[in-house]
Amino acid sequence: MKMNWGILGAAKIALEKVIPAMAGHPDFQVHGIASRNLDKAKVVAERFGIPKAYGSYEELIADPEIQIIYNPLPNHLHAQYTLKCIQAGKHVLCEKPIALSSDEVKSLIAARDQHQVKVGEAFMVRSHPQWQKTRDLVQRGTLGKIKLIQGSFSYFNITPDNIRNIAAYGGGAIWDIGCYPITICRYVLGEEPLRIISLLETDPGFGTDKLSSVLMQFPSVQVSFSVSTQLVPYQRMHFFGENQQLEVLIPFNAPKDTACEIKLNAGDILQKQVKTITFDVCDQYRLMAAAFTEAVRDNKPVPVSLEDSLANTLVIEAIFRSAREHRWVNLKEINE
Ligand SMILES: NC(=O)c1ccc[n+]([C@@H]2O[C@H](COP(=O)([O-])OP(=O)(O)OC[C@H]3O[C@@H](n4cnc5c(N)ncnc54)[C@H](OP(=O)(O)O)[C@@H]3O)[C@@H](O)[C@H]2O)c1
Repeated sequence: MKMNWGILGAAKIALEKVIPAMAGHPDFQVHGIASRNLDKAKVVAERFGIPKAYGSYEELIADPEIQIIYNPLPNHLHAQYTLKCIQAGKHVLCEKPIALSSDEVKSLIAARDQHQVKVGEAFMVRSHPQWQKTRDLVQRGTLGKIKLIQGSFSYFNITPDNIRNIAAYGGGAIWDIGCYPITICRYVLGEEPLRIISLLETDPGFGTDKLSSVLMQFPSVQVSFSVSTQLVPYQRMHFFGENQQLEVLIPFNAPKDTACEIKLNAGDILQKQVKTITFDVCDQYRLMAAAFTEAVRDNKPVPVSLEDSLANTLVIEAIFRSAREHRWVNLKEINE
């Protein structure tokens, strides 16, 4: 029997990426879509051949035919609705960032344990083979001793009613995209940062961070990354070892119809002797949904656990504290 997923909100990410990615899978299907507006839910259901449409999130959450809920609501509603789903006995895959504070993540952990359901954060990048390969190469020592990671992620969006530009909704560059280099560095290194310093430039109208740079000291690696909501679109991650440099060309928005590549360079600054590793074309959202469904069906760990989310959220809290207090912040201070 296929597992039934339900979706909270006709979000752009659901319509453009996640629902199409889930189509025709042998193990699961989208069984319901809820919107604050029933007509909107019906239009989406019709368009994607989804059997059920609901005019409120609560109706979907209460439906016994739904087993797993995907929560792509605006950031400030993530923890609140994920909690409602857990309390109704549903498994939940929630969009990033799963919460806007470590206290919220802790309350999700307690509820998950009480209701014995699976809960995970939708960091689809962690399901892409390019990241599993990068982690493997780094941890096997292919680069030599890894010492430095540098990353960038930017786009340009000044639309006032976009959720990313609304401070009260958890907008801004760090919550929206800064979470990616953080989760990826923690995943690839298998370590947590010790201390952090950051520089955040705030948009005067939106009150959100629009250009943010972060320096993180891991036990033996320095990481720096910059993210922006108001710069030319760009994304890249570089990993520097003593012997080789590894570059992930499309680190976060890996397309479903184009092969992704990582490059290994042993110091050829003319870039003539670069080893390219090419990955089979894949849809990272489909892989994520499949892995989450499997975790539910076979009672296995989810791809990105709440404990992992807690560690990521603590880093983000340290970034905001550092910007406010203009100083290095130790992770231990945050996690007291
Ligand atoms: N993993 C990824 O690749 C990825 C990419 C993009 C976004 N995301 C995440 O996905 C989430 C949604 O992003 P999005 O760009 O798809 O957002 P969006 O298009 O603005 O969709 C958000 C949905 O939330 C519902 N909603 C409920 N209360 C709302 C409110 N007060 N204001 C606005 N919408 C409200 C709306 O659905 P109804 O009107 O139908 O109820 C709306 O369609 C965010 O958390 C974002 O971080 C992830």
